Amino acid sequence: MDPEIDFIQQGLSHLATVVDPDLPGWSRVGYSEYDVAGRAWVATQMREAGLRTHVDAVGNVIGVLEGADSAVPAIVIGSHTDTVPGGGRFDGIIGVLGAIEVVRTLQRAGIRLHHQLRVVDFANEEGNAQGVKLVGSRAIAGALTPEHLSAADDTGFTLAELLSSAGHAPERASSCRWDTKEVAAYLELHIEQGPVLEQEGVGIGVVTRVCGISTFVLDVHGRRDHAGTTPMETRQDAMCCAADAVLAVQRIAAAGRDTVGTVGTVTTSSPLTNVISEQARVTGEFRSPEGTVLDALQDQLAQEMHRIDGRHRTSSSLRWGHTDLPAIMDGDLSGIIADAAAQIGHDAVRLYSGATHDSVEMARLAPAGMIFVPSAGGRSHCPEEWTDIAHIEEGVRVLTQSVLNVDAVPTRR
Ligand code: GLV
Ligand code: MN
Ligand code: MN
Repeated sequence: MDPEIDFIQQGLSHLATVVDPDLPGWSRVGYSEYDVAGRAWVATQMREAGLRTHVDAVGNVIGVLEGADSAVPAIVIGSHTDTVPGGGRFDGIIGVLGAIEVVRTLQRAGIRLHHQLRVVDFANEEGNAQGVKLVGSRAIAGALTPEHLSAADDTGFTLAELLSSAGHAPERASSCRWDTKEVAAYLELHIEQGPVLEQEGVGIGVVTRVCGISTFVLDVHGRRDHAGTTPMETRQDAMCCAADAVLAVQRIAAAGRDTVGTVGTVTTSSPLTNVISEQARVTGEFRSPEGTVLDALQDQLAQEMHRIDGRHRTSSSLRWGHTDLPAIMDGDLSGIIADAAAQIGHDAVRLYSGATHDSVEMARLAPAGMIFVPSAGGRSHCPEEWTDIAHIEEGVRVLTQSVLNVDAVPTRR
């Protein structure tokens, strides 16, 4: 069954126009006016494809195609259309457009599934200044807590206020929750965002697991002093301690297997060159496909900070945010995806994902599986992000065939 690749191409082109002109790249930041407009357009596409749509209390756009058997749970497909600031045109977007094209393909072929098919454009996968990623899928999985909703940005603006500002109803977030009995399987098509598929020369990836993430805030306390008169060996320079901490994150991550670590911000209390910084704040994260490794990375940074504080005569406090544990993709469902790829003549390689995805939250509800297609140069979260339309087409075919194969298995729950 052939997807109409023009639909995907035109959708990618259209959404690339619904972006914030004041930000670089292709920016449709979650809950911004551009994101609201983009998801309204997605809802229209869902309706035109024959789906019954609704928007839940946190902004998930959900389209439903009834199946022949109302007693069996739903097959859920989708991804997200929000982007990081300065992001690209493909991350998440091909999974939403691809899911709608699955529906259009089934409709054109006159195929009615046994299972209900739900298509979701999950709200704010990429996260926000409040530090909460996967907002929509978290709410659907029943894991969006009052603590998440009261998380605030640097100005004190909370996630709940952000949701309200986009016209949603955070006080009803618990109404977004789906029951595990409602979902037979979750399938997500996504760009790889890394170099593996391109390096291996393979068009389809089957994701084995999605990395967990531990985020931290490090507050460094030093002493404000005169930059011209304070000897180097007696300074308590919070800036220098922060700089050492940044390199410690790099060193610790580089020494691990499949671990990565990134610092997002370094801010200091003094922007002046003639005053030694008293305070500094460093924010960052570690990722690993193994939950126990995340714990070990946390311990290593704490130990390193002890040594680094000693070196700079500073004192630091390290706070870990909520840890998102790695999510294991379902083995049977991954087999179904690999079979689907083989059925339509594509090789597939298994790989883990260093990027996080809505599948992490959906895996709490049901067996989850992901299909990756190659990213040119392994680049993503940047304006240069690119995936050839031929690869996207292959991915949509594999997604369509996977949905048919899941539908052919009686009831998976
Ligand atoms: C989102 O794409 C993330 O991996 O943080
Ligand atoms: Mn994504
Ligand atoms: Mn992303």
